Amino acid sequence: MSQSGQMWGGRFQGRLDPMFAEFQKSLPQDHLLAFADLETNLAWSEALAQAGVFTDEELEQVRDAIDDLAEHWAEHGVPTDDPAEDVHSLVERELGARCGDLAKRIHTGRSRNDQVATDLRLYLRERILGLLEGIQDVCAALVGKAQAHFDAPMPGYTHLQRAQPITIGHHALAHAEPLARDRERLLDAYHRMNQCPLGSGALAGTAVPVDREALAEQLDFAGGPCRNSLDATASRDHLCEILFACAMTMTHLSRLAEDYIFFASQEAGFLRFGDAVSTGSSLMPQKRNPDAMELVRGKAGRVQGALMALLSTVKGLPMAYNRDLQTDKETLLPAMLETEACLHVAAMAVQNAEFDTVRCAAEAGKGYQNATDLADLLVGAGVPFRDAHGIVGRAVNRAVELGVELQNLPAAEQSALLPQLQCDLHRELSVRAVLDRRAATGGTAPARVKAEVERWQHVLTDWATGFEDDDGDDDGACGDEACDDPACDDDGHRHS
Ligand code: ARG
Repeated sequence: MSQSGQMWGGRFQGRLDPMFAEFQKSLPQDHLLAFADLETNLAWSEALAQAGVFTDEELEQVRDAIDDLAEHWAEHGVPTDDPAEDVHSLVERELGARCGDLAKRIHTGRSRNDQVATDLRLYLRERILGLLEGIQDVCAALVGKAQAHFDAPMPGYTHLQRAQPITIGHHALAHAEPLARDRERLLDAYHRMNQCPLGSGALAGTAVPVDREALAEQLDFAGGPCRNSLDATASRDHLCEILFACAMTMTHLSRLAEDYIFFASQEAGFLRFGDAVSTGSSLMPQKRNPDAMELVRGKAGRVQGALMALLSTVKGLPMAYNRDLQTDKETLLPAMLETEACLHVAAMAVQNAEFDTVRCAAEAGKGYQNATDLADLLVGAGVPFRDAHGIVGRAVNRAVELGVELQNLPAAEQSALLPQLQCDLHRELSVRAVLDRRAATGGTAPARVKAEVERWQHVLTDWATGFEDDDGDDDGACGDEACDDPACDDDGHRHS
């Protein structure tokens, strides 16, 4: 390729090595930013018109060209295998075909460095909304499970050893809570990155007297313009934050996946995945594999790797822009898209998981999971807990020898081992009684889980309608026109 054909080719006579020409392209990744780049071009053209670089008529021509290109790409898609080096060169060339030399003038006072930084933030705002929706989907599926099974017992584990009974609903909500925190992390990152780099030039700022405040407003950056042109073009900490939130989300999904995969095993037999999310074996006709959740668990590793890759790319980079930064997109974008897809698949898998509540309840009553409660009963009868622990430990040993549960110890054994207790052990140690005792906030008692389900339903409504209503009316939006919550529109109204 002749370098004189490149947007930067003026001082070069030789040809770019063909292999290097391919190697240095970013279009295969940054074509995803095409529509954001058109938005950036439009806003910059308007700023240039205000600064006197374009007449109103010229601006109109540029606007028409941008609209036309947007329409064309909406219909035919953005090319990914074009000779253009990156999306910015592609846009400039395509606008040139529509408005001639005006397209070349759009780059006045601008660099691809502030352009790509702006495009990426615009695109990320959209993608974060997609991630928030995905998290909402998984949480809604988990809350649905919790609602259906708020009082259904199952074994609870520590160290993957049966420990104490819990409810299926309590377990489901345990996986929703961390995802709610991931959602907050993403929102937090969204707000922090919602500042406009455009107008920062290549590194030192723009020499065109543009109104950067107006430009930021035009592009809906509630945080206004980035305050330092070097930082605006060189920093990628917002990408790292988003990737951390993705990696954490995937880590949480992988734990959910692992639990449900185990629950679906013949050994546990607690649930069965529906056909929509199960696959078979090419060899073993009887197999029914939980592949959806396995893939989610597996892909978590790739997203975690992306976070390390990006941190390593940014580490030690001199101020300001370096071409290393181009690789940010090939690290970040697939990881974000993968996370979004995994959220939807995980939601689907949870919805398609059918618990065997009869088996879960039966297993919750086995294996001395009520031993702590027996110790608590002894404490109620005046025995210090540490002594009670020892007494129950011995009672468990005896019950194991006899092959019975604690409440089924023969009367003679019971009075020998637990002389302090007169109560009806069958009732006091029943799974129901054990669950009901844990009624303090955060506990697994069915009444408590039911209340948590109701609280979660409000949370989900808030998420769907925007967020907690700050202005007292009931539309779920804050009413603040300057609000930059992604769920509120320009006027502080919630998205429908
Ligand atoms: N494709 C480049 C990137 O993504 C755009 C910026 C190029 N800037 C430069 N100085 N070569 O980073």
